[in-house]
Amino acid sequence: MTQGPILEQRDGIGVYGNFIGGEWVAAASRQTTENRSPSSPDELIGHFAASGASDTSNAVAAAEAAFAGWAATSAIARANILYKASEILASRIPEVGRDLSREEGKTLKEGIGETTRAVAILRYFAGEVQQPIGEQYSSATSSTLLFTLREPLGVCGIITPWNFPIAIPAWKIVPALAFGNTVVFKPASLTPLCAVHLTQALAEAGLPPGVLNLLSGSAAEVGDPLVADDRVVAVSFTGSDVVGATIKWVASERGAKVQLEMGGKNPAIVLADADLDHAVAQVINGAMMSTGQKCTATSRAIIDRRIAGEMAERLGASIAALKVGDPLAESTQIGPLISAEAAERVSSEIQTAQSAGATLAVGGDRPGKLSGHFVNPALFVDVDPDSRLGQDELFGPVLGVIPVNDIDEAIAVANSVRYGLSASLFTRDIGKALNFIQKIQAGIVHVNSETAGAEPHVPFGGYKGSSSYSREQGKASREFYTQVKTVYFDPPPSGVS
Ligand code: UN1
Repeated sequence: MTQGPILEQRDGIGVYGNFIGGEWVAAASRQTTENRSPSSPDELIGHFAASGASDTSNAVAAAEAAFAGWAATSAIARANILYKASEILASRIPEVGRDLSREEGKTLKEGIGETTRAVAILRYFAGEVQQPIGEQYSSATSSTLLFTLREPLGVCGIITPWNFPIAIPAWKIVPALAFGNTVVFKPASLTPLCAVHLTQALAEAGLPPGVLNLLSGSAAEVGDPLVADDRVVAVSFTGSDVVGATIKWVASERGAKVQLEMGGKNPAIVLADADLDHAVAQVINGAMMSTGQKCTATSRAIIDRRIAGEMAERLGASIAALKVGDPLAESTQIGPLISAEAAERVSSEIQTAQSAGATLAVGGDRPGKLSGHFVNPALFVDVDPDSRLGQDELFGPVLGVIPVNDIDEAIAVANSVRYGLSASLFTRDIGKALNFIQKIQAGIVHVNSETAGAEPHVPFGGYKGSSSYSREQGKASREFYTQVKTVYFDPPPSGVS
């Protein structure tokens, strides 16, 4: 029986291990790093293994050794383990959701919602892997039985961001495992505790040793050697486009399969005929929930000029009324940014935009009485679509209003950025909605709902610089985590005996 993830207590605070070959172990160097709450940096959440290249190599070796056995395990047996993990995690939703909020800073409601989403992903893939995974074809030769099989790839390196610290790991790791791959999981160094919770649920559900390996540590010490390791045949990454570009280069140069999910500069277009109450509420949800730290967040409200003034006022009033504070307090709507660096970066982007002539209508300052990494949610009006504020991803609680003359200009502005993850349109006009669906360059399109959100059973991913063409979740996961074998099966010439 595997011991738990806490190796020892240090002044009453847990020291968490890596999970390698079915054991919770310290980093080879014995070094640890502190994990602190972004809402109250005095609060120490835990000490986590500061892993290095030798830990990474050990984890890859464990995953490689476990691959043949796991690939040969029936899909039904794999599904049973995933389903059991879903039940274990479901039984811990209050505790894990709370840890997620403490560690990441999103509100408790969002922390619980995200943990519930991870449970749904485990359940979904326990079912999905029992669906047909091959196809039968006609052959030019009538006696040939011609069909395809889908087989696992091998060891997958999974590198995940801090902003969805349990849902994104789940939606990458669970399909990888479901389809028979083994995994080395490198979570964001800012959110290692959620990674421990997910790994623990899967381990307790009966995953054989080495099938899933968890390494906490930095991008330089763990991520780089993982991506460069020839034994890692596939890499799935969600994070910044700068890091994604390097991963793509290093992994594909050595022949690995690569999947990237990167940034967004997602537009919400509001036409004059829209239900404005609904549009205001949805645009604010899209822009400000999780403190704007979603790659699917709305950062541009592209609004018909005839209603832009009224909408800006209503958006400003709603944004100013948002309650910023302790994510664990029930009344809080907006928690902190993930780190001191993130809060400083967003503040400085706001100042840079102002210096460049942008009009800040609401917020954008640091709330004085809070010690965490807080920035008050901000609204800019009359934003120049070609400015930095109109083009670059800020990854914070900042929304810019861009007035336009009509739907055609709105779509042209929406498409004028290097990203294409998600996009929304608010209208009652079905002709305009269809036009938008056809012309918008985005992988996820919403009509009359916010840009964020992702259901587990449908493809997730973006156009242009937001993704690498492949999609995640649902049946799309099977494309990435399996390879196809085409079988021409003929009877021996003497006939069937
Ligand atoms: C969501 O909108 O609920 O990192 C999910 C991100 C995205 C996931 C968004 N890959 O923010």
